[in-house]
Amino acid sequence: MQHLVDTNDLSDKQIEAILADAFAFKHKNPPPFLENKIMVNLFFEDSTRTRTSFEIAAKRLGMGVINLNPSSSSTNKGETLEDTFANISAMDPDCVVIRHKDNNVARNLSAMNLSRVLNAGAGNYAHPTQALLDYMTLVEHFGDIRGKTIAIVGDIISSRVASSAIRLLRRMGMNILLVGPKAFLPPISFVGDALPQYKKLEDVIDKVDAIMSLRAQIERHEKPVFKDYSHYGHKYCITQEVLKGRNILIMHPGPVMRNIDISDEVLQDSRCKVLTQVTNGLYMRMAILKNLILDS
Ligand code: NCD
Repeated sequence: MQHLVDTNDLSDKQIEAILADAFAFKHKNPPPFLENKIMVNLFFEDSTRTRTSFEIAAKRLGMGVINLNPSSSSTNKGETLEDTFANISAMDPDCVVIRHKDNNVARNLSAMNLSRVLNAGAGNYAHPTQALLDYMTLVEHFGDIRGKTIAIVGDIISSRVASSAIRLLRRMGMNILLVGPKAFLPPISFVGDALPQYKKLEDVIDKVDAIMSLRAQIERHEKPVFKDYSHYGHKYCITQEVLKGRNILIMHPGPVMRNIDISDEVLQDSRCKVLTQVTNGLYMRMAILKNLILDS
């Protein structure tokens, strides 16, 4: 049974096949390859894009979708998550999409091998479908991304988007620079070995082909890092004054904190791919569902 907890669960060949399918589906909607298959969404954390994207992707492929709301499910009555998962699995869905604040939940449930597990966000550890849709967006723009440089800017230490992107984009041959205040930069052990770290945007702006801006993951901070995020924004917001005429691709997984992460003006700029990422996310998730459920 093929699970997707992080992108390192996928071989190079599988990633190549998924990417090719995602581009093909974007070009032309495919037939309902997964008619009569069932997806269960189990989101223990808030989500707008990822949950809707998984649901639309599944429906475009003909799947039935069940959205289980954990706050009204039996985990609230004291049932363990493992038992909830075992009970859902006993009804034989084709996949369970799970988001949870704990880094290990998706991995542990996948190890039970009762249903195919697709990780839609695990703590600050992994968000593989986001990494794959970001990869698609970069390939769509640059063609060959090997040797290109991306700066990840913001709350890297708390971000599963950053950790999955670092693993996947390095694997695909990109250079990665990390930018943020000290409290947001990870210790070296975070990604296995050291990546160049910078405190100021101006120190990287002439070195990069792309910037991935990240939201401060305030809900994950034990105590507030900044009292006022406009101070953070003064230093790290991607603005027209920072970018000027440079040909740099601007990305963000959403939700964007306007004028803290990216300025209103840059969000309107053709260099900014935030909504393209969302569109690509749909086709990428369709491709992931097809490859995991049908082809493996
Ligand atoms: C992110 C998440 O939840 O990990 N959003 C997303 O899935 N697109 C990032 C965030 O919440 O800042």
